[in-house]
Amino acid sequence: MNFQPKAVGGDLVSRAWSGDMIAPLSDRGQGTAASFVAKTFICDGTKMPAELFISALGLYRCFINGKRVGEDLLTPGWTSYDHRVAYQRYDVSHLIKSGQNRIEIWLADGWYRSPLMWGQKAIPNCWGDRTAAMADLVGPNGVILSTDASWQSGLLPIRKSGIYFGEIYDAREERLVETHGTVTLPFDKALLVAHETAPVRELPAIAPIDTWTDAEGRTIYDFGQNIGGYVLYTVRGAAGAEVRVEHSEVLGPDRYFDNRNYRTAQAHTIYTLRGTGDETYSPHFTFFGFRYARVTVTGNAHIVTISSVPISSLPNLAGSFSSGNALVNRLVQNTIWSQRANFIEVPTDCPQRDERLGWTGDAQVFAATACWLTDSRTFFRKYLRDVMADQREDGAVSHFSPDPTRLHPENFPGFAGSTGWGDAIVVIPWVLYTHYGDRAVLSECLNAMVRWVNFVWSISDGPIVRPPSRWGDRGFTFGDWLQPVGDNRKPRPTIADDCAATLYHFISTDLLAKIAAILGDEVLAERMTGRAEEIRHAFAREFIAPSGRIAHNDQTSYALAFLHDLIPAEHHAAARQHFRQVIVDADYKIGTGFIGTPALLPALTKLGMDDIAEKVFLQEEVPGWLYQVSKGATTIWERWDSMAPDGTIYEPDMNSYNHYAYGAVCQWLFENVAGISPSATAPGFAEVIVDPAPIAALSPVTAHHDVRQGRIEAAWECRGNRVTYRLTLPEGCVGRFRPGLRHQNPSINGEPVAEEAILRPGTHQLVFSLPQS
Ligand code: BGC
Repeated sequence: MNFQPKAVGGDLVSRAWSGDMIAPLSDRGQGTAASFVAKTFICDGTKMPAELFISALGLYRCFINGKRVGEDLLTPGWTSYDHRVAYQRYDVSHLIKSGQNRIEIWLADGWYRSPLMWGQKAIPNCWGDRTAAMADLVGPNGVILSTDASWQSGLLPIRKSGIYFGEIYDAREERLVETHGTVTLPFDKALLVAHETAPVRELPAIAPIDTWTDAEGRTIYDFGQNIGGYVLYTVRGAAGAEVRVEHSEVLGPDRYFDNRNYRTAQAHTIYTLRGTGDETYSPHFTFFGFRYARVTVTGNAHIVTISSVPISSLPNLAGSFSSGNALVNRLVQNTIWSQRANFIEVPTDCPQRDERLGWTGDAQVFAATACWLTDSRTFFRKYLRDVMADQREDGAVSHFSPDPTRLHPENFPGFAGSTGWGDAIVVIPWVLYTHYGDRAVLSECLNAMVRWVNFVWSISDGPIVRPPSRWGDRGFTFGDWLQPVGDNRKPRPTIADDCAATLYHFISTDLLAKIAAILGDEVLAERMTGRAEEIRHAFAREFIAPSGRIAHNDQTSYALAFLHDLIPAEHHAAARQHFRQVIVDADYKIGTGFIGTPALLPALTKLGMDDIAEKVFLQEEVPGWLYQVSKGATTIWERWDSMAPDGTIYEPDMNSYNHYAYGAVCQWLFENVAGISPSATAPGFAEVIVDPAPIAALSPVTAHHDVRQGRIEAAWECRGNRVTYRLTLPEGCVGRFRPGLRHQNPSINGEPVAEEAILRPGTHQLVFSLPQS
């Protein structure tokens, strides 16, 4: 497949490469033994600085004189390879020696050619069918060595590897033999971009908390935490003995090791011993989503030590939230772990089954929470470049990115253009702008945003979007994916696709108008403002009854409509009452799916319905955030009902125990409960909107967030209805507190405040009383 480079994102061409993209002739194609390419070279006596610039088609790991280069995992990473291929740069001065040196580049299928997508229609060789490497070793006097057709190749001990499949490793084959040469591939070096975000790295290993043997004599290890990563173990035994490791997220009844929800992802490793004392192994070119491991040892061998090793692109935290409620604190931890496991090069839906794709809808609803918990700026910026690379000619944004279906639509036609999902191209840049003051990402994505909202306009009869119902048809939408209906004998109201799609039509068009104004594109700002008004009026005409009731009378419609000010003033009070009633009628149980859930509690808080927000958030029955925590979840579940109260596992065909989407509630914990928000007028926390909406039952609450300027800390305690709120702002951050209905008799540092107050850097104590309920 020949590459047609397209300029996407600033720094496409970063350096003049000498090396060529060389493919090992020992390679027998996808799903077969992995290959290496190697070269021996001479360096004269002097110790000198040396840098290695390296990339690959497929995944690589590099060794110089037998020592591994760097600690990054899954390099060069996952991008839309027909548009962009990342490269890494390493200082290898400490690995080069005078005289004869040897460099080896190990190659494996990775995301580049492993089968991707679910079920029997998985697509192999998505971006190409040959693995290849490219490298320049550069010293003070220029290039010392670079990849060309003089390099040799051979097979690795990795007998098979694949993202979903796992890895088979035969340690008896570790003595590498060069059996073949290499060939230069036609490759456009303009596709190479310096890796744009943090590398994937290991987090501290986790020891088993429990272990037992099953009826077949296999050993099960419970690591206590569901992760994205792999099992690392040391084994001792005879050559030829084998260790098989399987993975699962949950146990069925009687501790049954249940990974049916992995679907066609085999997700296992097999290691064959070389029989020379302690042998340590973990997979090189894949990872799994799991909490439990099942180990089968065949032959004379035994496990000496074993641990699970989480990996992530964003291991470090930039924020924390804790309260007086242990379940809520665990929910925040579960969100952190789901982010870690799904922020591995790409924001994926899940890390375990035959999916693990960069779903745009999930990423957009979770983006703000992601930025509260970690510094996600470069991670999302890289992702947005892949989203733009995958955008279709007609402006449709793909359902996930990097998108394996774009080049192979035969199996999965029309996987683009869903409202709520495609809107990621407008929403995520906006989140990066407000959180980091990143104006550049707005301008870099502006053209793609305009193409998207024009696409949505084109699938609608004007402002009202009427999506087709068949998946794959142009304009199909996921609506409010997984919106619960409660008891299906008497299902609760859910939103219809036209309403969900029109809501997002408004959200993105309105946001684009604001973005155009910030970027000084007055013409575009005016056009989009006009179009947003048109959609607003049409929405009211189409979906709001004279009684103020929204058409489908479901929680998602009210939450999104109120959050985005789509309810006309004359209907506000009545609609508010209808909103309240649908929640009371549902026994304060959640009635929202992927797009409604992040809006539900912020909308209730915005309307001053803190009592309802508290009841919905703190109820422990299904559907509910705390239900899954009470069932022992250590990550966020894909479905509210992923596990029944009796522990029965919901239908495994689409049931992940590690989907971060519903963890988007953490944005509400930071912005409403802890009361600190970024401001669109002074982004990047130059200004902090201070508007705490304390939930007394959560007292005491503490939160922090590390921003460019330093650490912001907010904490409050509630005694009776009296709240004492402490806020610390670093230099460069100014707080803006506007007392509202929930801040009775407010004072700051002992001084009563009536009007809006500006809070200078430093520590402030606000005291106010909550209204009597
Ligand atoms: C994915 C979700 C995604 C949804 C949309 C699911 O299979 O796991 O993350 O948002 O499909 O349809």
